[in-house]
Amino acid sequence: MHSMKPSILIIDDEEAIRLFLEATLEDRGYSVVTAATGEIALASAAASPPDIALLDLRLPDMTGLQVLQALKQRLPHLPVVMITAYSESDSAVQAMKLDAFDYVNKPIQLDKLLAVVDKALEETAPARERFRTTTQSDLFGGMDDVVASRAPAMLKLYDIVRQIAGGSGTTVLIEGESGVGKDVLANLIHRTSPRRTFPFLEINCAALPEQLLESELFGHEKGAFTDAATQKMGLLELADSGTLFLDEIGEMSLPIQVKLLRVLEKMSFRRVGGIADISVDVRIVAATNRNLAGEVKAGRFREDLFYRLNVVQLVVPPLRDRREDIGPLAEYFLGIYNERFGKGFREVGESARSAFAEYSWPGNIRELRNLMERTVLLEDGLVLERKHLNLMEAEPAVGDLPASLHNVLVNPLPEAGIALEDLVHQFEETLVRKAFVAAAGNQTRAARLLGLNRDKFRYRLKQYGIKEEA
Ligand SMILES: Nc1ncnc2c1ncn2[C@@H]1O[C@H](COP(=O)(O)OP(=O)(O)OP(=O)(O)O)[C@@H](O)[C@H]1O
Ligand SMILES: [Mg+2]
Repeated sequence: MHSMKPSILIIDDEEAIRLFLEATLEDRGYSVVTAATGEIALASAAASPPDIALLDLRLPDMTGLQVLQALKQRLPHLPVVMITAYSESDSAVQAMKLDAFDYVNKPIQLDKLLAVVDKALEETAPARERFRTTTQSDLFGGMDDVVASRAPAMLKLYDIVRQIAGGSGTTVLIEGESGVGKDVLANLIHRTSPRRTFPFLEINCAALPEQLLESELFGHEKGAFTDAATQKMGLLELADSGTLFLDEIGEMSLPIQVKLLRVLEKMSFRRVGGIADISVDVRIVAATNRNLAGEVKAGRFREDLFYRLNVVQLVVPPLRDRREDIGPLAEYFLGIYNERFGKGFREVGESARSAFAEYSWPGNIRELRNLMERTVLLEDGLVLERKHLNLMEAEPAVGDLPASLHNVLVNPLPEAGIALEDLVHQFEETLVRKAFVAAAGNQTRAARLLGLNRDKFRYRLKQYGIKEEA
């Protein structure tokens, strides 16, 4: 999180200079971090990017110029002020070429230094602010399994993730269609918080029958029910100090919703069959591909629990609404499967890009990933082109059905009942989208594929908010 005090990173191997600068600058309201070596400086800047850096040209482990280059690479808008001796004027000139903000000579004249620092902060303020809000350097530091989105709506979500990262256990609700990256976001929330050194556990609330879900969450005492031969710790206990991700929370039965509400209110609970209250400190992140407020209205989800979960809400937009992400994701997946299958694809070509741009991606990022996996496996070439793709085959197969439909089809019907009308609508929507994509957006053809007349088809497009140009 960003404090209002500008932060200064002082990189100098001479302790006397570090202490002097630290004391003086702190007196003037800056927050100061010091580093005695280049390596420490780079690690510190990566962990929490400073607003400005003061950098000695001569360091024990790297040259000041190397540190400057490395800093600028990661944080292009960071103003770096070099501290140089008169004899090092050549290097000072070189530093300016490498985009140092300015340099001050040793011995340091304090007025001069303060004037340069003020000027640097003032001049770079807009650029730093833009950089802070448009990149995720601090959020995604060291993560190579996630492609950072460039879409404005996602950048806003990242900002919220950054804000809730610090220490707290704020509950988070993530909504979004199937395959948009809700799991990935939940994981990001955990990995950017101080909880990261504790467990991140997840459970799919739709995958288990009620009794099993209950004992998975809360644990049970020996003999609590027929199969409870031993005592067992629940996920809430196992995730203590960490994060528990409750996937498909919309499918949770009402009795378990009541128990979960109690946990969120008191941060304590009892094992099934137990009498002792167990206190835990767990951040709950819940996800759903339904509209949970709508579920509340329909009486399938408890209103009080909804408000408890909905402290922070992150709505992940579908891929078709953030097309700027398709290219980078496609390249990322191309790289992964290229390596895995030992293929020679070097890049995603223009024709493939335009095919991606035209497609509606009903299965979102998961669909793109599956498409790239299949294509790289089956095709050969240097540049991935439209002809390699079989986008028609990429339509939702059974495995890609909205999770709720899939669950109903493969699992026994839950005690609590299902929402037939809702599911039928979901099924209809899936088929309408499928036909629309198969007909490449031609409404007459799409209607024919579904055995409807054009008016009826158009009515459904509207009903499901499917964009005409999709
Ligand atoms: N930013 C990203 N970078 C790389 N891969 C991603 C990213 N977001 C999602 N993916 C990949 O896309 C697939 C779907 O993501 P994820 O499982 O998080 O979606 P979901 O919204 O949880 O879907 P569901 O509603 O079906 O549970 C996964 O294989 C995931 O690794
Ligand atoms: Mg998921």
